[in-house]
Amino acid sequence: MADQQQTKVLLFGLGAIGGFYAFILGQNPNVSLSVVARSNYDSVKANGLLIESQNHGNHKVEIDQVLKSPADSTTKFDYIVCAHKAVNPDKVPPILKPVVGDNTTFVIIQNGVGNEEPFRHTYPNNTILSCVTWVGATQVSPGLIQHTKSEDMQMGLFPNPNVDHKLEKAKLDAFAAFLTKGNTVFQVEDNIQIKRWEKVVWNAAWNPLTTLTDVDTQTWLKSSPEATPMTKRLMREVIDVAKRCDVPIGYDLADSLVDKILAMPGIYSSMHTDAKGGRPLEVEVILGYPMKKAREFEMDVPVLSAVYAMTMAVNGRLVAQSKL
Ligand SMILES: *[C@@H]1O[C@H](CO)[C@@H](O)[C@H](O)[C@H]1NC(C)=O
Ligand SMILES: *[C@@H]1O[C@H](CO)[C@@H](O)[C@H](O)[C@H]1NC(C)=O
Repeated sequence: MADQQQTKVLLFGLGAIGGFYAFILGQNPNVSLSVVARSNYDSVKANGLLIESQNHGNHKVEIDQVLKSPADSTTKFDYIVCAHKAVNPDKVPPILKPVVGDNTTFVIIQNGVGNEEPFRHTYPNNTILSCVTWVGATQVSPGLIQHTKSEDMQMGLFPNPNVDHKLEKAKLDAFAAFLTKGNTVFQVEDNIQIKRWEKVVWNAAWNPLTTLTDVDTQTWLKSSPEATPMTKRLMREVIDVAKRCDVPIGYDLADSLVDKILAMPGIYSSMHTDAKGGRPLEVEVILGYPMKKAREFEMDVPVLSAVYAMTMAVNGRLVAQSKL
């Protein structure tokens, strides 16, 4: 039985990133950790979740309860950590209803922007912590996570005007203490949206460009004299949208992100991996939300809209194939 003193945490989405943070949270004796595992349920239920980390060593993750679905529990959790792929952002918040109480705090660890809105819409009185992670991890087989040396995260409140700020801050601090105890690298940000949008400027370029072309970043940038200026225009259009959303980001980010990618070996992207694997893409939170905002503000974003439209077509094909 869980000790009354323990904080009840549910981890939803037990992929590589979710598995990594399950390991971090499980290090904490004050946390009672439950997980919702889907494709890897049988393996995690039978053998547990294993992690091989270049920073933390090899461990079996301390999990108290493995669930197939939130509907299999009646516990109202203190924290629900959402680390699922953001392929269908509106679908998940209602699924969580059986395990959400008045005092539940959501912790969203996902790529993209606008991810908080469906949670706020479904649960207008709950606190949301918004996180941007830079952890490099892969689930090499069901229930086995390999983590590289890459480890960093920024976290901040998605402020709720219906909740007392001191209470929200206390929930943020309590979760930060679990991360500290788990010995992971992170920073608490006053305005997490700056970090979310900065990462989305990166992802909005490299994810669709590697997916649409099926070449790596170096090969893409050198493929024609148009490639680099087009990439920077795309990034600057996303920065324009961020500015209209009152998220202050400078245009120099586009130059520095291109310099950064040129200093690295050519890479692909998680979206490219998903496309190759025949899985739906995280297109809504990476390109769709900036596009929606651009439409709302009646902004002219020709490169973003072209890239968005083509990526949506690829996604449509993948969704149709995955339903066969
Ligand atoms: C949120 O709180 C307000 C005011 O306390 C209340 O009227 C409303 O029903 C609550 N909404 C939900 C979805 O719980
Ligand atoms: C609400 O949750 C926090 C942790 O997030 C906990 O410290 C606090 O005791 C809870 N309050 C109630 C009334 O359950």
